Amino acid sequence: MAGTDSGTTGADGGQDRPIVIVGASLGGAKAAEALREAGYRGGIVLIGEEHERPYERPPLSKGYLLGKTPREKIYVHPPQWYAEHEVTLRLGTAVDSIDPAGHTVTLTDDGRVAYAKLLLTTGSMPRRLPVPGADQDGVLYLRRVEDSDRIKAALRPGARIAVVGAGWIGLEVAAAAREAGAEVTVLEALELPLLRVLGREVAQVFADLHREHGVDLRFGVKVAELTGDGGTVNGVRLADGTTVAADAVVVGIGIAPAAGLAEAAGLEVDNGVKTDRHLRTSDPDVYAAGDVANAYHPLFERHIRVEHWANAVNQPQTAARAMLGQPDAVYDRVPYFFTDQYDLGAEYVGYVEPDGYDRVVFRGDVKANEFIAFWLSGGRVLAGMNVNVWDVTDPIRELIISKRVVDAGRLANPNVPLGEV
Ligand SMILES: Cc1cc2nc3c(=O)[nH]c(=O)nc-3n(C[C@H](O)[C@H](O)[C@H](O)COP(=O)(O)OP(=O)(O)OC[C@H]3O[C@@H](n4cnc5c(N)ncnc54)[C@H](O)[C@@H]3O)c2cc1C
Ligand SMILES: NC(=O)c1ccc[n+]([C@@H]2O[C@H](COP(=O)([O-])OP(=O)(O)OC[C@H]3O[C@@H](n4cnc5c(N)ncnc54)[C@H](O)[C@@H]3O)[C@@H](O)[C@H]2O)c1
Repeated sequence: MAGTDSGTTGADGGQDRPIVIVGASLGGAKAAEALREAGYRGGIVLIGEEHERPYERPPLSKGYLLGKTPREKIYVHPPQWYAEHEVTLRLGTAVDSIDPAGHTVTLTDDGRVAYAKLLLTTGSMPRRLPVPGADQDGVLYLRRVEDSDRIKAALRPGARIAVVGAGWIGLEVAAAAREAGAEVTVLEALELPLLRVLGREVAQVFADLHREHGVDLRFGVKVAELTGDGGTVNGVRLADGTTVAADAVVVGIGIAPAAGLAEAAGLEVDNGVKTDRHLRTSDPDVYAAGDVANAYHPLFERHIRVEHWANAVNQPQTAARAMLGQPDAVYDRVPYFFTDQYDLGAEYVGYVEPDGYDRVVFRGDVKANEFIAFWLSGGRVLAGMNVNVWDVTDPIRELIISKRVVDAGRLANPNVPLGEV
């Protein structure tokens, strides 16, 4: 039997076991940083199954995919940061199981690591397309840096790229592919892109944007099969019999939280690892943050799971402080994300369930892609998205937090400062 490797050790409040973080990506690296910033001097072991040190994923569908952002710019910290901050980084090894009673995790390489507190930042994994032919060469998913390298190699001028799913991955890859000179067909199950996140009114803006850039958008379609030749994909057959020829197929049909480890350990799992407002799971010594966490949010008075960069940056700070026993460590930030497609840059702040709003108010010029959209329910602002308009997320966030009923006419009027709506 493998011996227990407790990693680095250090005294902190009498503990000599380290804090162990599972998942060495954005969330995990930010948690290690936050622990040190909070003055924790004990051991930190950061375990990741990828071979790369922690990196950020947003460039993988934007600047890095386009060859504009160099590889050294995607990393969360420089290589020496981990040693300088006495963070034991164990890459290329996954945690196989958690023993909550024994306070240990078992690694796929047969080691075991004891923990005082455990943080799960295991993120999420792309959903696989469940149709015949989906395992052929040329069927590409986008989660890791090597996936982005593979897609980049396929985005040649004139190449025919079929994209399945008009969500964030699908649209950002479509934009990069058009910029690279490829021919792009997007195949989406619903009637509009990003429909469940943005609703019909704003989803239409993204449909128009991609059509204007020459993307062949097909909505309400069902992919029946990926056709191929000698094990390499050469097209998509839809349920209505239509075929779309393709040199590569990029699939972006959503993700599933990587919560299997937590579930097997008996932690409460429901659409991710359930946590309280302190990001503590159903086990008092185990915490979760980032894509994998379905966390109780005091502002929305329910559990929400957010699949975006800012959440993976900010939640670990709260989890770190909570693990160090700070009772005021509560995660109550309003969700935020951004996107870049062609010459459209947008930021979104807020949270709206699909069909959870009764009105959208626009301020600015929608046709010129220079506006702010607000989602309202009962006259209260739930979310706002600024498109090619900048430095407005703070006042939008304040409108959301205040929960006050606003005058829609004033909200739509660009001459009324947002703070005075
Ligand atoms: C291509 C792409 C572009 C994106 N662009 C944007 C954007 O523009 N704006 C935005 O807001 N968000 C964007 N996102 C979303 C954002 O990147 C995620 O929300 C963020 O990466 C979540 O971070 P995380 O640390 O929680 O999880 P992840 O980034 O998924 O990292 C989890 C890590 O844990 C590892 N792991 C899992 N299980 C184990 C285990 N058992 N043992 C050891 N290690 C394990 C995984 O291998 C992975 O390295 C994008 C995502 C992708 C894929
Ligand atoms: N700018 C950003 O914030 C950004 C950018 C890229 C990725 N991401 C994150 O990466 C993750 C993955 O992104 P994604 O685009 O795969 O997921 P997504 O959930 O954003 O979109 C998935 C899309 O695929 C469609 N779909 C589902 N099944 C389908 C099928 N069988 N055929 C056709 N269409 C189908 C859905 O209707 C939806 O429009 C998400 O967590 C997302 O938030 C975020």
